[in-house]
Amino acid sequence: MWSSASRRDAGQGHGAVPEMLRQWIPGGVTHSVMQATAPASDLLKRSAPSRIVVVASELYRLASLNLNNLNPSSSWCPAYLYYVSKYANICFTLELARRLEGTSVTANCLHPGMVDSGIWRNVPFPLNWALKLVVKGFFKTPAQGCQTSVYVACSEELNGVTGRYFMDCAERTLNRGAMDESKAKKLWELSEKFADLRPTDPKI
Ligand SMILES: NC(=O)c1ccc[n+]([C@@H]2O[C@H](COP(=O)([O-])OP(=O)(O)OC[C@H]3O[C@@H](n4cnc5c(N)ncnc54)[C@H](OP(=O)(O)O)[C@@H]3O)[C@@H](O)[C@H]2O)c1
Repeated sequence: MWSSASRRDAGQGHGAVPEMLRQWIPGGVTHSVMQATAPASDLLKRSAPSRIVVVASELYRLASLNLNNLNPSSSWCPAYLYYVSKYANICFTLELARRLEGTSVTANCLHPGMVDSGIWRNVPFPLNWALKLVVKGFFKTPAQGCQTSVYVACSEELNGVTGRYFMDCAERTLNRGAMDESKAKKLWELSEKFADLRPTDPKI
């Protein structure tokens, strides 16, 4: 649960995309997550048992991941970039878990629920007014919304559990595409290039 990657890295080269989406461009997200995770990896291994928790989203189910077009900015639905980024988060986490096998560092991902957080602040008018009613009326409060993250980060039940997906403090199944190991491996390799890391880098 890091936010240490630089904002410039996350949004590079996508100036036409609104701010809310610019933060979630798939290549940028995996790249940023990797840049955030890699330098911490040594420390996590030295502090093992330790846990990496990636906050993904159920909205990944509305997307697919095309490795030849990681940033499908021409989609008719601008939010599609976000869905793809969450898909990439999940593939990244599962591959990271495989690569960390035997280190006592675990990597899991989760959906926090729909939460009344700052994520909605850049939704444009007039959509923001309608959304505000839905968010205030039906979404989880921040305290409720962090429960699954805290559970995955801290619960003793999850000692040694890795490469899984959680929602409402329980494990959930992923769709077959998100569990595709060869796709995740290729995404990892592409992300290594974006993040300018080498497979032999001791940090990864
Ligand atoms: N809210 C929901 O309903 C919902 C549902 C499913 C999944 N999620 C996921 O939950 C996670 C947390 O989102 P949230 O709802 O808590 O949204 P949020 O209130 O907007 O928080 C996002 C956090 O990420 C930081 N951040 C954004 N872009 C960054 C970047 N490029 N580099 C470094 N830090 C960056 C923000 O920093 P600043 O505050 O300084 O801008 C903020 O602290 C996200 O991964 C989101 O996709 C949220």
